[in-house]
Amino acid sequence: MKVFATGKEIREHYRIHELRQPGLVPTMGALHEGHLSLVRAAAECCRMVAVSIFVNPTQFNDPEDLVKYPRTPEADLQMLSEVLRENDFVFTPSVEEIYPESDTRVFDLGEIGEVMEGAHRPGHFNGVAQVVSRLFDIVRPSAAFFGQKDYQQLTIIRELARRHYPKIEIIACPIVRESDGLAMSSRNKRLLPRLRERAGEIYRTLIAAAAMASDFEPSEIKDFVADRINMIPDFRLEYFEIVEDATLKPVASVWEMSPEKSYYGCIALWAGEVRLIDNIEIGLR
Ligand code: PAJ
Repeated sequence: MKVFATGKEIREHYRIHELRQPGLVPTMGALHEGHLSLVRAAAECCRMVAVSIFVNPTQFNDPEDLVKYPRTPEADLQMLSEVLRENDFVFTPSVEEIYPESDTRVFDLGEIGEVMEGAHRPGHFNGVAQVVSRLFDIVRPSAAFFGQKDYQQLTIIRELARRHYPKIEIIACPIVRESDGLAMSSRNKRLLPRLRERAGEIYRTLIAAAAMASDFEPSEIKDFVADRINMIPDFRLEYFEIVEDATLKPVASVWEMSPEKSYYGCIALWAGEVRLIDNIEIGLR
């Protein structure tokens, strides 16, 4: 595998190999099996794979979160070298390479950018749209791989691609979990051991919530989730929302739900000082 820090090196690589349009896996590093599952999926379907590692400052609405974001560059390259092939590459740009000038673009994401994470992390998705569009412009991939772990992000990127990059195929990959069900996340490294031990309860709560969908109203399911999460010492629910696939419209009543559509129960919570998100597909029985 190659490691490039600039768009110029990438263009030169494409020229030498007469290959371009790789499958792109955008990441912020501190890699784990969840990221690697995306890289493997890309390697299976693309002749060339690009993995970007860039902790994007414009998507951190909380400056402290940016400072505390884990960075493990050597371990990341080691993990990638076991999956990537000779002509695949890792793109590790500087902030100046991605943003030669400060990025003032405002993406009108509509309602899908306003609910859930959009409401609790103002500016976050605009920053995600900025960096992903810069990465698309520099790498020019044929396909880009994103995890369902960040379900709202995936929906927003699909919309971004539909509007501005119709030739790039957006491929969704399933959530990879730890053995106790906790969704893998770079942020898990920051959990204190006693909080990490309790965190398996998040997925168990999501499974129980999904099982209630046919028989209870969303408001009752939300109360159930809030009670169960807030009962765990040092855990605090930020939101649990049942939303319709693609539109991300919150479901107000079970009567609105149709067996033909997909729904997702999305959760955000604090475990001590670490903010975690997860989701589960919800179907009617
Ligand atoms: P990051 O959190 O590093 O995640 C990179 C990609 O890995 C995202 O598509 C995310 O959904 C996926 N991912 C993370 N944990 C996963 C898991 N447990 N199972 C499956 N996929 C998982 O998301 C970002 O970075 C950034 O916002 C980015 C898109 C790179 C833009 O800066």
